[in-house]
Amino acid sequence: MRILLSIFLTLWLAYGALSAPTSLKRRQGRSFKIETVRRASNTIHGPSALRRAYVKYGIVPTNIGVDLDDFEPIVKAAAEDLSKEIVEPDQTGAVSAASVEGDAAFVSPITIGGQELVVTFDTGSSDVWVMNTRLPSSSIEGRPAFDPSKSTTFEDIQGATFNITYGDDSYAFGGVGSDTIDVGGVTVTGQAIGLPTQVSGSFLEDTYTNGLVGLGFSSLNTVQPQQQRSFFEAIAEVLDEPVLGASIKSESVGEYEFGIIDKTKFKGDLVNATIDASSGYWKFESAYYRVGDGELKKNDQATATIADTGTSLMLLDQHVVDAYYAKVHGAQYVASATGYIYPCSAELPNFSIAIGPQHLATLPGNLMGFAEVGTNTTTGETVCYGGMQSNQGLSLQILGDTFLKAFYVVFDLRGPSIGVASPA
Ligand SMILES: *[C@@H]1O[C@H](CO)[C@@H](O)[C@H](O)[C@H]1NC(C)=O
Ligand SMILES: *[C@@H]1O[C@H](CO)[C@@H](O)[C@H](O)[C@H]1NC(C)=O
Ligand SMILES: *[C@@H]1O[C@H](CO)[C@@H](O)[C@H](O)[C@H]1NC(C)=O
Ligand SMILES: *[C@@H]1O[C@H](CO)[C@@H](O)[C@H](O)[C@H]1NC(C)=O
Repeated sequence: MRILLSIFLTLWLAYGALSAPTSLKRRQGRSFKIETVRRASNTIHGPSALRRAYVKYGIVPTNIGVDLDDFEPIVKAAAEDLSKEIVEPDQTGAVSAASVEGDAAFVSPITIGGQELVVTFDTGSSDVWVMNTRLPSSSIEGRPAFDPSKSTTFEDIQGATFNITYGDDSYAFGGVGSDTIDVGGVTVTGQAIGLPTQVSGSFLEDTYTNGLVGLGFSSLNTVQPQQQRSFFEAIAEVLDEPVLGASIKSESVGEYEFGIIDKTKFKGDLVNATIDASSGYWKFESAYYRVGDGELKKNDQATATIADTGTSLMLLDQHVVDAYYAKVHGAQYVASATGYIYPCSAELPNFSIAIGPQHLATLPGNLMGFAEVGTNTTTGETVCYGGMQSNQGLSLQILGDTFLKAFYVVFDLRGPSIGVASPA
């Protein structure tokens, strides 16, 4: 559903007891290369997440963009595939999922009408929309934008509009057309695509992404007057298996694979839970949790839990979050930051959460942090912001990227169901 962490960090940097780390260097130039190698798993990453917050504050005035060159599809589209009208249902397609802004989001390359764009796949919404040339020119200056007039396969859907507001209050609205989308060599023809004529400021700032591709169910699609089929349901028809395997990796480049459950990506068994798709979300039962090796607790208040690639953090019911940070030395809830912080030197316990009625998924403590956010001016200690935070009373628990980074996760339209396993 796209709840990006920057809101929290933005509030947070305004908090007086913290000062910014001085080591952050000004970034020169417009683009940066995503690194394909990675850090030790127990270091909590911060600087790039901070960079995003700094941009919001205007402290680092440079435009942080992402070059399309950085995002070659893992499986290249065969040229002739793009022109084929009928695609045999035996395809799989993989694209990279690159961490940006210290895991605030993960972005992937696609083409629309043959034009390359970097987008965010979001299992928590069901609209496809992209930055485009019908936006005011000031909104798309210096960044890639889809130009419908240069696509031979684009058609306007007369009278159709979309209007979407995400969990972080970001929004986009405008007209709708249809075009061919290629994801890692798999093509979907006639996909409804929103061409906003207005987007919220955050999308203007988020130059690392040029739009969203919703992977929720069609009932969440916002197109009026005729609701449109979601991208996932459309691509499923041409896939070998109607699945998406997500292996996203912290501060690194992972992968979204359409059409295959990739046995090389996980070890042990996939633990499956039934999805209740009635709300349009990838929603499942998750009524139990455990902090460290403590006792298994039932979360009586648990409303529903969704798996959401578009949300940076893991947002759970407040009492669960309170129970977790009660076991973190020096942790405190800071209302102005709407979140828990703790000294980065504190050890974070493991956290387990139910996947369906019979299984628990355990996140190791070293993946439970999100970012360094500053220095405690009294003690000189670095202060960290946790990857698990309160859902602020929302009637959903959201297993966002903090959760997904720790597992290999299969979104399976058969059932539908979700499968979770330890990454290989
Ligand atoms: C879009 O939806 C929001 C919230 O539902 C509403 O306030 C706004 O007026 C709508 N905008 C348009 C252009 O329809
Ligand atoms: C989970 O579902 C997958 C297919 O999505 C299947 O191959 C696997 O056997 C299932 N695992 C269990 C434990 O039922
Ligand atoms: C966390 O879980 C792992 C297994 O995933 C286990 O090896 C480790 O001992 C646990 N750590 C703590 C502090 O309980
Ligand atoms: C900074 O450290 C002091 C002393 O340990 C503590 O009382 C205070 O809550 C800390 N502040 C933050 C923001 O961590």
